[in-house]
Amino acid sequence: MEDFLSQQRGQDLLRFITCGSVDDGKSTLIGRLLWDAQQLLDDQIVALKAESKKHGTQGKNIDFALLVDGLTAEREQGITIDVAYRFFATAKRKFIVADTPGHEQYTRNMVTGASTADMAVVLVDASVGLLTQTRRHAFLASLMGIRHVVLAVNKMDQMAFSEGAFRRIEAAFTAFAGTLGFESITAIPISALKGDNITEESPHTKWYLGPSLMAYLESVPVHKTPSARWVFPVQWVNRPDAFFRGFSGTVAEGSVKVGDEVRVTASGQLAVVSDIVTMDGSLPQAREGEAVTLCLDRPIDASRGDVLALSRLPLEMTDQFEASVVWMHADEGLMGRQYDLKLATQWTSVSITEIKHRVAVDTLAHEACRSLQLNDIAVCKLATSRPLVFDAYERSKTLGSFILVDRATQSTVAAGMIRHGLRRAQNVHRQALSVARPDRERLNGHRGRVVWFTGLSGSGKSTLANALEVALHARGVRTYVLDGDNVRQGLNRDLGFTPADRVENIRRIAEIAKLMMDAGLVVLTAFISPYQRERAMARDLIGADDFVEVFVSTPLTVCEQRDVKGLYQQARAGKIPNMTGVNSPYEAPDSPDITVDTSAMSLEQAVQMLIERWAS
Ligand code: ADX
Repeated sequence: MEDFLSQQRGQDLLRFITCGSVDDGKSTLIGRLLWDAQQLLDDQIVALKAESKKHGTQGKNIDFALLVDGLTAEREQGITIDVAYRFFATAKRKFIVADTPGHEQYTRNMVTGASTADMAVVLVDASVGLLTQTRRHAFLASLMGIRHVVLAVNKMDQMAFSEGAFRRIEAAFTAFAGTLGFESITAIPISALKGDNITEESPHTKWYLGPSLMAYLESVPVHKTPSARWVFPVQWVNRPDAFFRGFSGTVAEGSVKVGDEVRVTASGQLAVVSDIVTMDGSLPQAREGEAVTLCLDRPIDASRGDVLALSRLPLEMTDQFEASVVWMHADEGLMGRQYDLKLATQWTSVSITEIKHRVAVDTLAHEACRSLQLNDIAVCKLATSRPLVFDAYERSKTLGSFILVDRATQSTVAAGMIRHGLRRAQNVHRQALSVARPDRERLNGHRGRVVWFTGLSGSGKSTLANALEVALHARGVRTYVLDGDNVRQGLNRDLGFTPADRVENIRRIAEIAKLMMDAGLVVLTAFISPYQRERAMARDLIGADDFVEVFVSTPLTVCEQRDVKGLYQQARAGKIPNMTGVNSPYEAPDSPDITVDTSAMSLEQAVQMLIERWAS
């Protein structure tokens, strides 16, 4: 198996992806390719079976996914990806084909399959012609860095092998895909069912002078320019005893030798490689794709998520970049919401700061949009909470690709390909100031903090915040109330009630509350703040010790009876599209610090309770 794996990295392995719509005949084509190459498959299957037993996630079955790296984070999270990897070989080459189903969640599957593919076979049914899906697949393939594409025009037998039919589809595809930056686009007329132009040249297409699909697959160049630099994302620090300390991981790019000086990118610490340890003993050199443990000549402080490089070829860092983002989840993607981002072995929190445009995959036109829906492909700006080692995807698949994970559900919601870092990130530095929060708090005679009221419209948040402020003010506490209806007339005048706008509303409020707390104030916020994720973000930003979440739990029926502003009535009459509690969700807190039901106690009692809880 080791031999096989190391050969995989050589010239003689082609990784490719097949894509197409449901009825284009993909399974038949793959079945045919496997069948035609079958005689060479048996010994590899034996090896693969043995390996699958040791490391596989498929029980007793063969885990073909072991043959590819794919999006490792997804595997670590045990998320099933609907991509089947199949292996076959001919006398000229070995092949790994990623078979991605063309249904709903196709972007997830295609991104996963295409992330390691050298070329793509896009299938189209000759009797149907190009579909939206065909264009999407071609566009995604180009986005994922695939440079060679075959348009396999299938079911030619049903078209009596008509050259005209083939040429029309070829021309339409070339016109579309010609702008996508492919190095080559090759159209081949085939019948997967009958075997025409699969392995043998077909006697039915005398007018076609190109290669059969197999001949093409055997000869398409897979050239990889070796990287001069060295990229080593640290997977874990190996410390079996007090005497040994090594940094384990897989070489993502280039190579390193014993004696090379290396640099921890984030901290800038330098050290020299003293040993390269593997399962089979020490090596003089670690090359791309090899899993090794590095020992260094002096103790340095590096851990999982650090990226090592050669000191003479350092890597770049940024905390803001522009990227193509493929949204892969039914929950919409919202600007300002915090996600977890994984890039190589680095994890951090991130938010989309701007959606520049969405690409209409049929026409490649740029469309304005405020949030991202399932299967959307958009160009976005993102800001991470700490600088990351990065590169553009076109230069480095490892340092240029990332995934976004929803913090509440832990599901992977998007994949991204970095276009470039934003210079702005490097030029803004924090200014040190002489008077700090403790100084102001000392002057005030009390701590600053944030009391965050959440609840439905009409639940009594503003009334409570107001009454609490009066009581605190009377006790000499410096306070300020941030109230939804008021802030929305000024600072947040530009925001409405769509999910995207509500996320942005709360993001700004959390930032302001934090500044006001830093100014030494006790800040009382009265916003519906309907989403659990944004309240969690506010708690993180402000700090759990200074954040008091008050759930104003007054039931919807009571709020609706009160209907102080007449909004519920209008919403029930269909005049307000996004009314919280009626046709827009309210996610009640799981474990608020304090719960107040204003229908079950008087305002005085409620304020009394808040003050008491406060004092304790
Ligand atoms: S939040 O959801 O973004 O936190 P916020 O608290 O700022 O909302 O604003 C809520 C106030 O706006 C409500 O008290 C109500 O007066 C008013 N409002 C107008 N339209 C809506 C709506 N569709 N949903 C909820 N509140 C609305």
